[in-house]
Amino acid sequence: MVEFNLPLNSRVGQGQTFKAPAGAKRVREFKIYRWSPDDGKNPRTDTYEIDLDACGPMVLDALIKIKNEIDPTLTFRRSCREGICGSCAMNIDGGNTLACLKPIEDVKGAVKISPLPHMPVVKDLIPDLSQAYAQYRSVKPWMQADTPAPPDGERLQSKEERAKLDGMWECILCFCCSTSCPSYWWNGDRYLGPAVLLAAYRWIADSRDEETGQRLDELEDPFKLYRCHTIMNCTNTCPKGLNPAKAIGAIKQLIVERQG
Ligand code: SF4
Ligand code: SF4
Ligand code: FES
Repeated sequence: MVEFNLPLNSRVGQGQTFKAPAGAKRVREFKIYRWSPDDGKNPRTDTYEIDLDACGPMVLDALIKIKNEIDPTLTFRRSCREGICGSCAMNIDGGNTLACLKPIEDVKGAVKISPLPHMPVVKDLIPDLSQAYAQYRSVKPWMQADTPAPPDGERLQSKEERAKLDGMWECILCFCCSTSCPSYWWNGDRYLGPAVLLAAYRWIADSRDEETGQRLDELEDPFKLYRCHTIMNCTNTCPKGLNPAKAIGAIKQLIVERQG
């Protein structure tokens, strides 16, 4: 049987353990991936014992407590702390989700936290999203229309036209979906991935946009679109309950329909 090992400089070692204060009664371990580009060392897992009686209910509360009270070097992104900004996306207990929406009590045993999978790491829990954002930019996620807007008002939609955007406008670009997709893991340089394809379809489905044909032309590509094999990890992991796989299916269907 073939055995695969991580390269020596990628193997995750055992890090420090930060003990809970004496007298803490409801102690939970947080095992967190640590890596810094500045010290030339391998990644490691640090363990922080947290007294849940002195901590907010969400995983993000624990991370902020660790950073504020125990280890200021721990690095992660966060902003809104209510599932709106998408910046606290990470892998918690084996699944990609938002730390601010993940109750600690939903995790049994030690809470294992690592960066979104298969992305380069900037530091600790921060993935490098440069490629994902470049791909997002490539689908021109804004309205394109040559017809001028009415001089005395906005471009209107019927209620039915507007309803077609539900399930897409809510996307917060956290990239939990793309980084859970095996096709994106292996072909992320050429496959656009579910987050970006959902964004592409959001504009294809918009009745006010006049570049549908051009948008479909650009997506009709064996790698950009057709690497999706309907594995559904994306939809299963989306912390906003969206369905990128359905949007990808809708793009494929439109391409088939226009072929006549
Ligand atoms: S349905 Fe498509 S985009 Fe979603 S995880 Fe599977 S292959 Fe990736
Ligand atoms: S579809 Fe869901 S998981 Fe994917 S980027 Fe949008 S909000 Fe995040
Ligand atoms: S902090 Fe904004 S989504 Fe979690």
